[in-house]
Amino acid sequence: MKKNIDVIISKEQIEKRILELAEEISRFYKGRELIMVCILKGAVIFFGELAKNITAAVKMDFMRVSSYGSRESTSGNIMIVKDLELDIADKDVLIVEDIVDTGLTLKTLIGVLLARRPASLKVCCLLDKPSRHKADILPDFIGFSIEDRFVVGYGLDFDEKYRNLPFIGAVKN
Ligand code: IMP
Ligand code: MG
Repeated sequence: MKKNIDVIISKEQIEKRILELAEEISRFYKGRELIMVCILKGAVIFFGELAKNITAAVKMDFMRVSSYGSRESTSGNIMIVKDLELDIADKDVLIVEDIVDTGLTLKTLIGVLLARRPASLKVCCLLDKPSRHKADILPDFIGFSIEDRFVVGYGLDFDEKYRNLPFIGAVKN
C-alpha cells in the first residue's frame, strides 16, 4: 500500500457493493438487453467488475469526453474525444461513470445521448459527492455517497496516477 494514501473504501467493501449493484441492475433489466457505456478512463475498473456480475444480456461500448477548464470550474461544456461505436437508438442504455462531482459533465452527456433516442437511459456511478452537485442529476444506481474529498484509486486518478489502486483512497497532503 502506498503510504501517502489514506484508505477510504476498502477493496472488500467495493467488491461487496459492486455485487449488490450488479444484482440490482440485473433485476432491473431482466429479460432485456442493455448497452453498458463505460466513460473512459475513470470508470474502466468499475465497469469491468460490474459487467462481470450482471446476468442480463450486455453489450459494451466506450466513450471518452473531456471537459474544458479545471475541475473547480467544470462548465459542462464537453468535447467528445471518443464516441460510441454502437447505435443506441431504441436500446436500453446504462452509462457507467466513476464519480459524479458537480454533475455538469454527466448532465451534458445525458443530453447528447438522449438526442440519439435510446429506449431508456440510466446512470450508474461508483461514487457520488452529493454536496458538490450543481446540476440536478440523480444517478439511478450509486455505489457509495461520499463527502467532498478528492479521491483516487479504482480507476480514479490524480494527474493520471493511482488509477490501478484496488481501493478508494485520499491523497495525504
Ligand atoms: P463533474 O462534471 O464535476 O461531475 O466531473 C466529474 C469528473 O471529474 C469525474 O468523471 C472525474 O473524472 C473527475 N473527478 C471529480 N471528482 C474527482 C475526485 O475526487 N477524484 C478524481 N477525479 C474526480
Ligand atoms: Mg471521469
